[in-house]
Amino acid sequence: MFNEELHEDEKDPKVDLEIDLLLQGIYRLSGFDFRQYMRSSITRRVQHRMKVEKLPSVTRLLEKVINEPAFLEKVLNDFSINVTEMYRDPAFFHSFRENVIPVLAELDEIRIWHAGCSSGEEVYSMAILLQEEGLFHKARIYATDMNEAVLNVAKQGVFPISKMKDYTKNYFLAGGKHSLSEYYTTDEHFAYLDPALLKKIHFAQHNLVTDQSFNEFHVILCRNVLIYFTVPLQNKVHDLFYSSLTDGGFLGLGIKESLRFSKYGEAYEEFCGFQKIYRKK
Ligand SMILES: C[S@@+](CC[C@H](N)C(=O)[O-])C[C@H]1O[C@@H](n2cnc3c(N)ncnc32)[C@H](O)[C@@H]1O
Repeated sequence: MFNEELHEDEKDPKVDLEIDLLLQGIYRLSGFDFRQYMRSSITRRVQHRMKVEKLPSVTRLLEKVINEPAFLEKVLNDFSINVTEMYRDPAFFHSFRENVIPVLAELDEIRIWHAGCSSGEEVYSMAILLQEEGLFHKARIYATDMNEAVLNVAKQGVFPISKMKDYTKNYFLAGGKHSLSEYYTTDEHFAYLDPALLKKIHFAQHNLVTDQSFNEFHVILCRNVLIYFTVPLQNKVHDLFYSSLTDGGFLGLGIKESLRFSKYGEAYEEFCGFQKIYRKK
């Protein structure tokens, strides 16, 4: 469904074999399983690392991965694409506020899981939204990622001040009701989010490929993560999401992602189809 076009040189069968061996090696050494990630995206990451390190072949890169733990970490980081922002795709959050919030308002407790939360911008966006809608006090927010380094950033709730202008624009487009600056203090370089927001968010390392469900949720957001997975792997993760959602629970995907071709296409209602908000039937 998300097949990115491969360039001809990326289709070289020898390189493909070397990458198979690299991914197998990484899995054996670290437990991180990238074997069913989109090959085009993995290949580009590998080529980038080879260029930076001036390595002549994938096999030489594998040798370094095997012999140098710090280099293995570097490659693992390369594979975890962490691009994110507050109120990314503001229309998604606007739609969530307009359509999902009234349903959640009826619940006594709201459990939300942000799967693949990166450095936390998406989670804090949701926390502020829930606060403005008067639901924050009854929400339990879980935010997970496979990458411990970005989780450590997320836990701090500190973002470069240079980004807050764009985030403020997104916040208003997403239907923000006050001023984003009410939720943080600043110094010369950074914006520090209100500690009251941090208190309710449980950050934890969790790998969608290899780990199990850990609770039952009313909302799961997994945005801009599955786009890097092959369809069989997406289906495996959808098994996890389906079994982790309450009946009538909501699943929010990224704008370029869809349930349409997954094996769960019929199991969800397209609640806000255009914004990729689905509701478990
Ligand atoms: C592009 S970011 C998306 C962040 C946020 N959801 C957003 O939409 O802005 C993708 C995140 O997914 C995480 N990720 C990739 N594979 C994962 C896996 N198997 N399990 C958990 N997280 C994963 C990456 O570490 C990265 O932080």
